[in-house]
Amino acid sequence: MAIRNVLVTGGAGYIGSHLVDALVARGYDVVVLDSLEPQVHRSGTWPSYANPKVRYVKGDVRDRSVFEPLVLASEAVVHFGAAVSIGQSMYQIDRYVDVNTRGTAVLLDILVNAKHKVEKVIVASSIGVYGEGAYQCAACGPVAPGIRSEAQMAAKDWEQRCPSCGASVVSIPTPENKALYRDNIYSMTKYHQEEMVLLIGKTYGIPAVAPRFFNVYGPRQSLSNPYAGVAAIWISRLMNGKAPIVFEDGGQLRDFVSIHDVVACLTLMLEKPGADYLPVNVGSGTTVTILEIATMLQRLLGSRVEPEVTNAGRTFDIRHNTADITRARDTLGFEPKVSLEQGFAELIEWAKTTPDVAVDFFDKAMDELKAKGLLVQS
Ligand SMILES: NC(=O)c1ccc[n+]([C@@H]2O[C@H](COP(=O)([O-])OP(=O)(O)OC[C@H]3O[C@@H](n4cnc5c(N)ncnc54)[C@H](O)[C@@H]3O)[C@@H](O)[C@H]2O)c1
Ligand SMILES: [Zn+2]
Repeated sequence: MAIRNVLVTGGAGYIGSHLVDALVARGYDVVVLDSLEPQVHRSGTWPSYANPKVRYVKGDVRDRSVFEPLVLASEAVVHFGAAVSIGQSMYQIDRYVDVNTRGTAVLLDILVNAKHKVEKVIVASSIGVYGEGAYQCAACGPVAPGIRSEAQMAAKDWEQRCPSCGASVVSIPTPENKALYRDNIYSMTKYHQEEMVLLIGKTYGIPAVAPRFFNVYGPRQSLSNPYAGVAAIWISRLMNGKAPIVFEDGGQLRDFVSIHDVVACLTLMLEKPGADYLPVNVGSGTTVTILEIATMLQRLLGSRVEPEVTNAGRTFDIRHNTADITRARDTLGFEPKVSLEQGFAELIEWAKTTPDVAVDFFDKAMDELKAKGLLVQS
């Protein structure tokens, strides 16, 4: 039977809401289950971009009495409802594990024990499951160094070394089969979610996919949540006349992918079987340094405030991680279309129209990290 009814948990959030719009445009019947988490939805109401063709249900993914009937009425479940901040997860451990890991357990328990017609489950995973990205050592080949030590960070010795021979290594795009490790609670819960969904999917023959999102940016991204993506935080800072704060030396490599490319990839995952039972990197396949991002945003905003390179590190930060998107290309025919320049221009145009940009909670969040000893400073 073809998929017609899609349940999107977290569908009032940033990525979910864009997917919801795309699904409606493609003729699906969409239901959203979302708890309207106050940190994301400060008004406590459905966002202004809520889609009039969608049924919105306010509820928590940990509440089976709400979740179960919605799952049973659907042929596909996209599970995005989650607590989403790395820094915060290091001091709200109970909440992160409960919402993310147990919320997913509730979904799987329903799928295994109730009579359903679900033909596809998509669960949001993250770049965070890798810890550090992949590296190449001239002598040893591909290597997977762990998190940098406190001593290395304190010495401001930012680059990774080969775990076998100690030589300098270069960052290479990370394939899905790189050795995984997690260095923060949020990423652990993302890994739980992914592993649990893929395991139960395989065991019971429910096609499941775990997109591993890299740095997703675009309209509707939170500008006021201090734990949101760095591009949004910097736009908010620049528009408030404050410098973007760049940790370490700014040479960290990342993959920034437009929300529109992400939605295109998710739609392929829903409609094609190629990536079933697999984790799949969702990135742009292009690499950029953090300092290049800050400088590009400054230029696009026409701001005179230069980025502030702190030359200080945070204990849970990784040095480099960029996406190898071969799997998404080969299994789904995914091809990213939005350039960084186009995508950031769109993000900025949108930011100018949102009142949230006036609020900058970044300094307060930094104080909290400092108080918890999570910011290494000399
Ligand atoms: N934005 C990124 O770059 C990125 C990167 C990696 C992974 N992800 C993952 O993608 C998914 C969506 O992220 P996003 O950026 O759209 O975040 P978001 O915070 O904008 O959206 C999450 C939504 O989930 C809802 N929610 C939170 N707790 C809930 C609960 N207990 N029950 C029901 N709903 C709940 C929130 O109200 C919010 O609307 C998340 O699972 C996140 O972990 C995002
Ligand atoms: Zn080596």
